[in-house]
Amino acid sequence: AQADKGTYPFYMLKEIDEQPNVMRKLSQVYLNDDGTPVINADLLDAIKSADRLYIVAAGTSYHAGLVGAKLFESLAGVPTEVHVSSEFAYNQPLLSKKPFFIFLTQSGETADSREVLLNVNEQKFPSLTITNVPNSTLSREATYTLLLHAGPEIAVASTKAYTAQIALQAILAKALGEADDQAAAKDFDVKQQLALVANGMQALVDEKATFDKLAKSALLHTPNAFYIGRGLDYAVSLETALKLKEISYVQAEGFASGELKHGTIALIEKDTPVIGIITQQKTAGLTRSNLQEVAARGAKTITIVTDALAKPDDTIVLPTVDERMTALLSVVPGQLLAYYTSLNKGLDVDKPRNLAKSVTVE
Ligand code: AGP
Repeated sequence: AQADKGTYPFYMLKEIDEQPNVMRKLSQVYLNDDGTPVINADLLDAIKSADRLYIVAAGTSYHAGLVGAKLFESLAGVPTEVHVSSEFAYNQPLLSKKPFFIFLTQSGETADSREVLLNVNEQKFPSLTITNVPNSTLSREATYTLLLHAGPEIAVASTKAYTAQIALQAILAKALGEADDQAAAKDFDVKQQLALVANGMQALVDEKATFDKLAKSALLHTPNAFYIGRGLDYAVSLETALKLKEISYVQAEGFASGELKHGTIALIEKDTPVIGIITQQKTAGLTRSNLQEVAARGAKTITIVTDALAKPDDTIVLPTVDERMTALLSVVPGQLLAYYTSLNKGLDVDKPRNLAKSVTVE
């Protein structure tokens, strides 16, 4: 069923606003009151007997996979690789002895991802599709399915599906780690974290005027912009840059902040916006010094920082959650900045040029 836009000018804004409820919904569907995950036992057994996870996806779903891999490795101790579907399909890497495949796909119809699933089925490897659309092609053709319960996502730019994919991977990683008696998983209160994330998201989406203003001052008239970060913050940089480029046509790129000095810093000119995402204690100081390096070359720097790591001059401060879950909050300012840049340019936010919601050709 086509969702109703209600009083929203665009679906994208409505879908950004729905994210706190999507977090609560996933918690209700996949977690008991005591916080223990409710995941099909056959699925858990199948993943447990694998020696490596292969996450395969495209676009925003691929970016959600980059975050998911860190959750599977840190909570369940299972080595995880993430691949772009269109690359994997025709250049399959050497696989481990017992691979398990996870397809992340909002629509469940992405042709590039399906091509990989067909190959995987031919090789008789087990698979799971995590999708928002029940009975979609990839859901039907994989061994197992988990639904995102995010409600219809209409805007071409994916927002709530991304955060739903990360939240569900966190639940699955917790379930796997617990089934395997891993201390990291037992100590990780995913239910409490999702509640904190939902409240944090709400606080961010309640600050729309701030993001509108920032989009106008920093992004509206720029030809290019960079998001930088390390680790999980790098993964989110890729996603927030994609959001900005696809709907506002600003040439935006996400970079590992340590890589700047290996080439990209040559692009920095007076007033080039460089947005640093800082949520990981271990690398906060390093990303801050990378921001100083670009500021010294004239860049206009903006910071998105968790409360625990914030300094007085930071631009956007995020409520503090477990460091493994920060992507769920740090992405929201990027979604809103992209939205307001596109809106203030007078573009069709929901239907950017040259793009389809679901890419059903290879
Ligand atoms: C995201 O904003 C995109 N429009 C796009 O990258 C999308 O995530 C990609 O096409 C994958 O789609 P899927 O999740 O439906 O497979």
